[in-house]
Amino acid sequence: MSGVRVAVVSGAASGIGRAIAQRLQGDGWRVLAVDLRPDEAGPGEPFAADLTTREGNREVVDAALARFGRLDAVVANAGFQHVAPVEEFPEDRWDALVALLLTSPFLLAKRAWPALAESGDGRFLAVASVHGLVASPFKAGYVAAKHGVLGLVKVLALEGASRGISVSALCPAYVRTPLVEAQISDQARAHCLPEQRVLEDVLLAPQAVKRLLEPEEVAAAAAFLLGPDGRAVTGAPLVLDLGWTAR
Ligand SMILES: NC(=O)c1ccc[n+]([C@@H]2O[C@H](COP(=O)([O-])OP(=O)(O)OC[C@H]3O[C@@H](n4cnc5c(N)ncnc54)[C@H](O)[C@@H]3O)[C@@H](O)[C@H]2O)c1
Repeated sequence: MSGVRVAVVSGAASGIGRAIAQRLQGDGWRVLAVDLRPDEAGPGEPFAADLTTREGNREVVDAALARFGRLDAVVANAGFQHVAPVEEFPEDRWDALVALLLTSPFLLAKRAWPALAESGDGRFLAVASVHGLVASPFKAGYVAAKHGVLGLVKVLALEGASRGISVSALCPAYVRTPLVEAQISDQARAHCLPEQRVLEDVLLAPQAVKRLLEPEEVAAAAAFLLGPDGRAVTGAPLVLDLGWTAR
C-alpha cells in the first residue's frame, strides 16, 4: 500500500455522504463523489449514477478505476426513508429501499472486490443506522434493509479477511440532514402529532442524549474506520446512537 488512497462515496451530494467526502478529501484521499444528483461544487469528483440499478453500481466502480487507476475504499452511504404503516406501505418504495440500502452495497462490493484486494489495505464501509439494530414503527422497508446490510457486512468481513479487506458499518442515531428534515411531516401524520412535537416526542425519545448528531461527527468516525487505526474493526458496526441501545 502506497500513494494517494482513493475512495468511492455514494450519496455524496448531501448530508452524511457529503461530510464523509469532505473529510476524506481533507485527509488527502481522492474521492469519487457519487450521487443521483451530484453537486458539481461539492467535495470530490462528482459522478452521476442511479444506485438502484445494476448498471449504475457497475459504472461507479469502473469510473473510479478509470479515473484514478486504483480503489482503496468504498463507502456505501446513499439512502432515503419512507414512513408509512405496513398495510399502506407502497410496494414500489419497499423495492427501492431494498435496492438502494441493501442491493447497492452488495453490487458495489462485488464489483470493487478485486481492486480492494489489490489495494493491500482495502476497506468497505456501509453507513447503516441504529435501525440496523433496533426497529421503529412505520419504517418496514428501511429497518429491514438496514438489518440486512449488517448481515452483508459480516459476510464480507469473513471473505475479506484473507484478501486484506476490512469491512465495517456505522450505526448512527438521528443526524441533522435533509433525510431527517424530510420525515418530520410524515412522522407527524403517522403518529397523529403536530410537527413541532415530532423531534422531541418521536425522534429523540429513544435516545439517552437528546440531540441530533452532526454529519461531521459521523464523518470523523468514518475517517477513523477508513484510516490506519480502523483496520482492526471488521465484521462489526461502530454504534453512534447517543445511548439508544443501552436501555
Ligand atoms: N440522517 C439520519 O438521521 C441518519 C441516521 C442513520 C443512518 N442514516 C443513513 O445515512 C445515509 C445518508 O443519509 P443522509 O441523512 O445523509 O441523507 P440525505 O438525504 O442528506 O443524502 C442522501 C443522498 O443519497 C442520494 N441518493 C438517493 N437516492 C439515490 C440513488 N438512487 N442513487 C444515488 N444516490 C442517491 C441523494 O441524492 C442524497 O444526496 C443513508 O443511508 C441513511 O439511511 C441517516
